[in-house]
Amino acid sequence: MPETATGSSTQLWIDVAYLVTGVCFIMGLRYMSSPKTARLGNTISIGGMAIALLATAILLDWSRAFWIALVGVGAGAALGIYAARSVKMTAMPQMVAIYNGCGGGAAAMVATAEFLKSNPQTSPVPFDLAITSVLTAIIGSISFTGSIIAFLKLQEVMSGRPIVYPGQQVVNGLLALVAVASVVLVTIGIDTVPAFFAALASALVLGVLFVLPIGGADMPVIISLLNSFTGLAAALTGFALGNNVLIISGALVGASGTLLTLMMGKAMNRSVANVLFGAFGTLQTTEAGPAGSTGSGTVRESSVDDVATMLAYARQVIIVPGYGMAVAQAQHSVRELADQLEKKGVVVKYAIHPVAGRMPGHMNVLLAEANVPYEALFDMDDINPEFPNTDVALVIGANDVTNPDARTVKSSPIYGMPILDVDKAKQVVVLKRSMKPGFAGIDNPLYELPNTSMLFGDAKASIDKLVGAVKAL
Ligand code: TAP
Repeated sequence: MPETATGSSTQLWIDVAYLVTGVCFIMGLRYMSSPKTARLGNTISIGGMAIALLATAILLDWSRAFWIALVGVGAGAALGIYAARSVKMTAMPQMVAIYNGCGGGAAAMVATAEFLKSNPQTSPVPFDLAITSVLTAIIGSISFTGSIIAFLKLQEVMSGRPIVYPGQQVVNGLLALVAVASVVLVTIGIDTVPAFFAALASALVLGVLFVLPIGGADMPVIISLLNSFTGLAAALTGFALGNNVLIISGALVGASGTLLTLMMGKAMNRSVANVLFGAFGTLQTTEAGPAGSTGSGTVRESSVDDVATMLAYARQVIIVPGYGMAVAQAQHSVRELADQLEKKGVVVKYAIHPVAGRMPGHMNVLLAEANVPYEALFDMDDINPEFPNTDVALVIGANDVTNPDARTVKSSPIYGMPILDVDKAKQVVVLKRSMKPGFAGIDNPLYELPNTSMLFGDAKASIDKLVGAVKAL
């Protein structure tokens, strides 16, 4: 517990402050669920965190712990500000991964310190401290090393491909068994200290081994799952420390991470177990060149001028952004193209698939950065009925989320995943660099449909050319 030189009335005010923080966090999460109010949600949450920090500072009084905490908060804030300002939007998932890992690691360290402070070598550790600290150490450690592997994969420091080896599940099972046995020993008080460290070590290794077989592109789901682990670890630390704000905020992080994991799984029509054990991404990929064919049909290649004419004379165009738009950083050019089309009286809408890109809300964030009005962004269920009445569906670096096989081909790895019905538009134009597949590693029959034409090239370069050509019409 932190040093308290304060009376019970101060403690009461601190608890009230922690309660206000909890309410701010809940409101913040509520507002963050819509792009329109997300900024406000962030501001409210920052306010809540400031209140919690202030209350904790009062709790610490002007003790040595206060100054140590101040140095930690200062260093963390400086690093956080620098990272937030300099990180590229495409590198956001790995930034979240590393921050999440830090949270898990911090929780594990606090739990270990609390456990060791209770003199476990000489006196029995109270049951509630023993169970909360050993569980926090395990969950926090899995989150710590798992997040580091996720970071390394996404940062391409190591291969993003699933790393699989024979007996993987058995090894993981044995490690989990060691962790469970250690929890039992710690709580019943036999060889408490060695058992605690055995739990810590097995969890650290388990974190690495559990993320290795997961493909780089499945990482957002794993990061979200690890995020829920970190939340759980923080909540348990709250119990060990008797700190209400940690219990509340940890529970919120745990619950929102779990919900997000389930929502992503649902949007991809994949269970969390399939993400964890399916080694998605080991599939064979087709490497046909531009203007090749994905199978039986032929692919029609279009020119910038043809596409510009098609767009400029359309009544309604639906823009379908995907991962390729993020890679090309084409969002500002896309906005410019939409502006030009609107000047010509074309109605422009954006269709947002829940897992387009590589992280939740990826497309919303990019388009908001380019000041695309929120009213122009439509969720999949709202926009799908509009495709049959749309003249042109302009698919920009999106692939899997438009693959019609998901509807009908039972053997397809994405069978059952809800998709954007772009194929139902009168004309479909696909902007990508080649005939290579997307994340799922499968061919897309959309490209062979008679109403589809391809405009090959980097999305930003193609859109910039389209802007010029539309202006000239
Ligand atoms: P993908 O299916 O991955 O397709 C992206 C396409 O962009 C590729 O076919 C690629 O083709 C093209 N591309 C890449 N760089 C480009 C550039 N510079 N210019 C133009 N095109 C470029 O993307 P999607 O349709 O957005 O689907 C997302 C996938 O990620 C889904 O399978 C989803 O399940 C998965 N996933 C998403 C999430 C979240 S939360 N968003 C989480 C986990 C998994 P070329 O190489 O030929 O250019």
